[in-house]
Amino acid sequence: MDRKILLHEKDIPKKWYNLAADLPTPMLPPLGPDGNPVNPEMLTPVFPMNLIEQEVSPERWIDIPEEILDILYRWRPGPLRRAVYLERYLDTPAKIYYKDESTSPPGSHKPNTAVPQAWYNKQFGIERLTTETGAGQWGSALAFACKLVGLECKVFMVRISFDQKPFRKLMMQTWGANCIASPSTETNAGRAILEKMPDTPGSLGIAISEAIEQAVTDPAGKTRYSLGSVLNHVMLHQTIIGQEAKAQLKSIGEKMPDVVIGCAGGGSNFAGLAFPFTADKINGADIEIIPVEPTACPTLTRAPFAYDFGDTACTTPLLPMYSLGHDFVPPPIHAGGLRYHGMAPLVCQCVVEGLHTPRAIDQIECYEAAITWAQTEGFICAPETSHAVAATIQEAKKAKEEGKEKVILFNYSGHGLMDLTGYDAYLSGKLDRYSLPDEMLEKTEECLKKHPQAEARKSGKW
Ligand SMILES: Cc1ncc(COP(=O)(O)O)c(C=O)c1O
Repeated sequence: MDRKILLHEKDIPKKWYNLAADLPTPMLPPLGPDGNPVNPEMLTPVFPMNLIEQEVSPERWIDIPEEILDILYRWRPGPLRRAVYLERYLDTPAKIYYKDESTSPPGSHKPNTAVPQAWYNKQFGIERLTTETGAGQWGSALAFACKLVGLECKVFMVRISFDQKPFRKLMMQTWGANCIASPSTETNAGRAILEKMPDTPGSLGIAISEAIEQAVTDPAGKTRYSLGSVLNHVMLHQTIIGQEAKAQLKSIGEKMPDVVIGCAGGGSNFAGLAFPFTADKINGADIEIIPVEPTACPTLTRAPFAYDFGDTACTTPLLPMYSLGHDFVPPPIHAGGLRYHGMAPLVCQCVVEGLHTPRAIDQIECYEAAITWAQTEGFICAPETSHAVAATIQEAKKAKEEGKEKVILFNYSGHGLMDLTGYDAYLSGKLDRYSLPDEMLEKTEECLKKHPQAEARKSGKW
């Protein structure tokens, strides 16, 4: 039995896969403030043109430059592991495989896109990147990538995580970045929020507004903004995960997975694993593909499909996505990276189409799963990742009930060694079950009704 399935460096994927090329129903376009589709030129104050080209690309495959591969070889190709100890504990006929993204220097999947984003900005003559971070995983990944390619990096970290996770801030500083709590007094967006809500725990939406504002107001024009999830080019860069997983399963003669699972905050680690398999599903394969989110922030399972801004200050284009509303401030659950109001439009279109079937799980069940995982497999997962572990356990139990030898594949998006305050809260009984109350969704409708309608278009095949 293979428990660690490794690829040779020479077999690292050399291209990124763009699902947009294969969608049965094309996505709706992002809209500008006038309600018309945005053109690439309009995005140039925020992103460099070489990344905007990827954002709007209709090409199925995009070459990964050798210089980027040279950086990724530090930890890629990443291992595919079989969770035999969990299988035994659950006494399930299912085979559970997971793609281990925790082996990157910052400890998650985030550098798969941080490195190319930093590299393309550098190529374009940019000197400094700004960004936001929730759990601190993305901020530390961008700090790491900027140092390696020679850019300055400034990170706005959501207040609650800044307070709960001092070690993530120290990692960013170790890689030479400047990390401050958001909302901050450094931007108009931050000051406006602090005036209204001085004690706010912050949100990804607010931090994004601050980071964008700092990028576009640089008088030298040498600063750009970098986003760790949601956008098409971020999903693209992450597809290296699913391509490796496919090659690894094939190398041991394993069949195609029956179930593919990933936790979903903005959608990137899930998409990275799932999109290459989604292509197979479009071509007829029978795979259940499950993005998992918290019941506290149930974007895909309970929010409407609508046009909404990606940030609180309404600086981004209007994106077609499931959204809890750009002014939604999620409750301070411990999976900071899953507290985003929206979701990647590419993932949303797959949900509309019926290609992906989302699921929400309560944080208590997720921590129970994380503890089971740690006490069987041995590794301590990130609170975000625990949502994927919890769904995997649900699926493995279902396979037992059905008596089916299913192959389950999930994405182990990161380790939790910097997130032990969340474990502390759980272990000392301070966490409660929490499902977003219906009243909050009324506010969502109020927020979204001002925007143009987004038609949920689908082929009806799934
Ligand atoms: C370990 C980990 N997993 C998952 C996520 C969620 O982000 P995404 O949905 O873009 O993968 C985060 C975000 O911070 C994270 O740190």
